[in-house]
Amino acid sequence: MAKSAVRYVCQSCGAAAPKWGGRCESCGAWNSMVEEAVGSAPPLGRGRAKPSSRKITFAPLESTSPAPERLVTGIAEFDRVCGGGLVRGSAVLVAGDPGIGKSTLLLQVAGALSARARAAYVSGEEAVEQVRLRAARLKLSHAPVELAAATDMGAIIAALDVAGHPEVVVIDSIQTMYVEGLESAPGTVGQVRAAAAEVIRLAKRRGITVLLVGHVTKEGMIAGPKVLEHMVDTVLYFEGERGHQFRILRAVKNRFGPTDEIGVFAMTDGGLIEVANPSELFLAQRPGNASGACVFAGIEGTRPLLVEIQALVEPSPLGSPRRAVVGWDSARLAMVLAVLEARCGLAFSALDVYLNVAGGLRITEPAADLAVAAALVSSRLDVPVPPDTVVFGEIGLAGEVRAVSQTETRLKEAAKLGFARAIMPPAKEAASWRGGLPQIREIGHLLDLVDTLSGGGHVRASGKLPTKAGDRSH
Ligand code: TYD
Ligand code: MG
Repeated sequence: MAKSAVRYVCQSCGAAAPKWGGRCESCGAWNSMVEEAVGSAPPLGRGRAKPSSRKITFAPLESTSPAPERLVTGIAEFDRVCGGGLVRGSAVLVAGDPGIGKSTLLLQVAGALSARARAAYVSGEEAVEQVRLRAARLKLSHAPVELAAATDMGAIIAALDVAGHPEVVVIDSIQTMYVEGLESAPGTVGQVRAAAAEVIRLAKRRGITVLLVGHVTKEGMIAGPKVLEHMVDTVLYFEGERGHQFRILRAVKNRFGPTDEIGVFAMTDGGLIEVANPSELFLAQRPGNASGACVFAGIEGTRPLLVEIQALVEPSPLGSPRRAVVGWDSARLAMVLAVLEARCGLAFSALDVYLNVAGGLRITEPAADLAVAAALVSSRLDVPVPPDTVVFGEIGLAGEVRAVSQTETRLKEAAKLGFARAIMPPAKEAASWRGGLPQIREIGHLLDLVDTLSGGGHVRASGKLPTKAGDRSH
């Protein structure tokens, strides 16, 4: 007889242990171990009862089958992030903070697809009537999407596992779904993993495209933390700052397309609308000639994207000055501040530093270093960066400015939007790719940046700038 198939799964990292413990041995979280039955639905690839006795056959690498068939929604920002439409039979996880717009996006996707494929929308969070209200707001009332309000994964699968099944199914959200036979509550690692495993198996077997909604929890991980990411083919993060209109859909994993691709949307009263030229929008409310602001010519996925970086540097009333960052990595800010201090003699240690990426975008590119430095120097010395200037480049610890990829694309986008100058790393290429920008200032060291911004001259002799906050000229 099989011994009782129970194990304990950490709710914060997903590690499994045969015995209960007050503290997870893997991630150190307290009181996070929860009982889970290992039974009807073993997680993918683990815990199978007996190894298969059948032989496997090996196949060559070369494929004779055609490229995967894709369902194109016609929502260009969404299709591009997926790598050119949804692949049939694939599982896609759309993760994001509660209230960011995942249900709205997926109802719009289902609505768009329903014109050419059978699409179903299963909500575990809202009643059918509520989904209808949302559809009315999105002007999708007449789209032939099949609605259901359900949370029992077994029942959902039974409804889908039939001839003439829908081609696309939205499960909103995976945290509300449960699998019969597990003691633990919906939303726990065990349930989330089991429910997802079952529906993904169905997706592969029947060739149904499954879109799973996953709420990001406080810790910044999808509940059933990370356990879903390896099970699905594609992971899309839907992000944005609350209070801002912009929403960014970002592919962080894609078995059928590029990652780091983003789609930009704006949340309006009538749902999400595509933003075809995000740079224009991100720069729309730029203040004129203020110090502490600078336009970064970035690349998101395959697209250039211009965003404004804002810094505010002020004498601090506190013993340990504040460092507040929105939209960028705070460790990276600390590095840029340290390099400015050590290599350019610009002290920040008694100053509060606030850094903000305008529009609610989050930037991860190291190429933003130089733009951040420019915003900081501009605020610190109270000299504006000329508003028709874009800045990009990576900074090394010695204060050197390093080359970054896709210079030409960045410059072209800047020229397209009417910028006249660029401050950037030295580039080997000839002047031919200047992208139409009349003035390009190539700088090899941060000191050159300080020089350029402060009008030059007064720093070079000693290689040092005034180091005290009181020395600021105003
Ligand atoms: P929702 O899709 O329910 O978020 P999620 O599924 O990620 O939890 O979106 C919720 C927010 O979006 C809510 O605050 C209202 C807003 N919203 C609009 O602004 N316009 C709309 O047309 C819709 C449907 C929602
Ligand atoms: Mg929702």
